[in-house]
Amino acid sequence: MAPSEIYKSFYTSLFTSLWALVFARLFTPQRVSKRDLSGQVAIVTGANSGIGLSIATQLARQNATVYLACRSVDRGRKAAEDIVSRVGEKSEGKVHCWELDTSSLTSVRRFCDRWIQEGNEIDMLVHNAGIASPPANSPTATKDGKDLVIVTNFLGSFLMTHLLEPHLSNTARVVLTSSTGHYSATRLLQPAPSPHPQTFLSNLRKCIGTKLNLGSSSAPAYAHSKAQQVLFAHLLQRRFSSDSDHQCSAHSFTPGFTSSAIFGKFDVSWRTWLTNPIFAVLKATERYVAADTDQGSRTGSWLAAEGAAHGGGGYWEWQVKRTSLVEFLRGVLGEEEFMKRSREEWGRWEEGVEIEWDMGVKYDS
Ligand SMILES: NC(=O)c1ccc[n+]([C@@H]2O[C@H](COP(=O)([O-])OP(=O)(O)OC[C@H]3O[C@@H](n4cnc5c(N)ncnc54)[C@H](OP(=O)(O)O)[C@@H]3O)[C@@H](O)[C@H]2O)c1
Repeated sequence: MAPSEIYKSFYTSLFTSLWALVFARLFTPQRVSKRDLSGQVAIVTGANSGIGLSIATQLARQNATVYLACRSVDRGRKAAEDIVSRVGEKSEGKVHCWELDTSSLTSVRRFCDRWIQEGNEIDMLVHNAGIASPPANSPTATKDGKDLVIVTNFLGSFLMTHLLEPHLSNTARVVLTSSTGHYSATRLLQPAPSPHPQTFLSNLRKCIGTKLNLGSSSAPAYAHSKAQQVLFAHLLQRRFSSDSDHQCSAHSFTPGFTSSAIFGKFDVSWRTWLTNPIFAVLKATERYVAADTDQGSRTGSWLAAEGAAHGGGGYWEWQVKRTSLVEFLRGVLGEEEFMKRSREEWGRWEEGVEIEWDMGVKYDS
């Protein structure tokens, strides 16, 4: 694509997304997949509420056997009962709940070990669990010092995909619930940041922040984790495509602005309006503007059910493929530099979860 085309396509996607954030309720409802998923197995993480619960319900409606991977087994079991009561008899005995805390690599390993011993081949793996910020008054890092938002939203899924890859069926679909917020990620595929120069303004901002006890914003980590998901879907697709025996596919999507429990989970005080104004605005306007979870989840369940038919590796919104930040960077950097930086990023993910997992893709592929 010519450079001018990349810019045009990127900014069109970005402005359409911003428009959709505010006016999603005016959009035509999305299609529901009609594919019969009898005999197929799905894992949906964070499936006890919101978008994950809606995706799991839809896949059960299409006759799949669904595993809700939840950090609270109690909440997960209630969600499973809720799904069976909504879908009816045909889903009885086909909706299960297994414990999984994506913020703990130990828990991810435990889940996968159990799957390896007891589970069947996986046809749909939906990485949906996520948080916008760490819960109020709780640590912002995991026990081993990693950013809680990054591990919960991305690194846990990266490790899980690696461990479960041998158990994916030949036509498996891996789907990641990303976000429009991924467009604001500034660190993705960038060389290591140089220390910020100390200017009068930066010192003043720091001083005011300390005096008012503002703390730091989780928005950059959230955006980064969501951009990592988009990049991972792209690279995983290349990895799948390099093996001609498989027709697996990987996809990322944004649910757009969707009314869910996620907004109740972060406190908004006057400080939030200074450190995290976007989250504060979203929370304040959610009930008037956001789409319901049925619509927010539709692109995800549609991709999980029939993703490969629409081509893999892409980033989707409202069942339309968009130019993501990843596609934009690919166009601007050129293929060779993009793959070089992607390989470095992949290496940091491997380090983060202490595994070795060859990306399986050459620079020129
Ligand atoms: N709502 C939106 O407008 C919006 C927009 C863009 C992207 N998203 C993304 O959509 C996904 C689903 O969010 P939602 O809006 O449906 O919010 P939600 O109702 O809060 O759902 C999030 C789910 O993730 C689970 N979860 C959180 N941390 C977890 C952990 N450490 N281990 C396992 N599960 C964990 C939650 O479990 P608990 O019930 O135990 O907390 C819950 O089931 C998230 O990835 C979010 O970033 C949402």
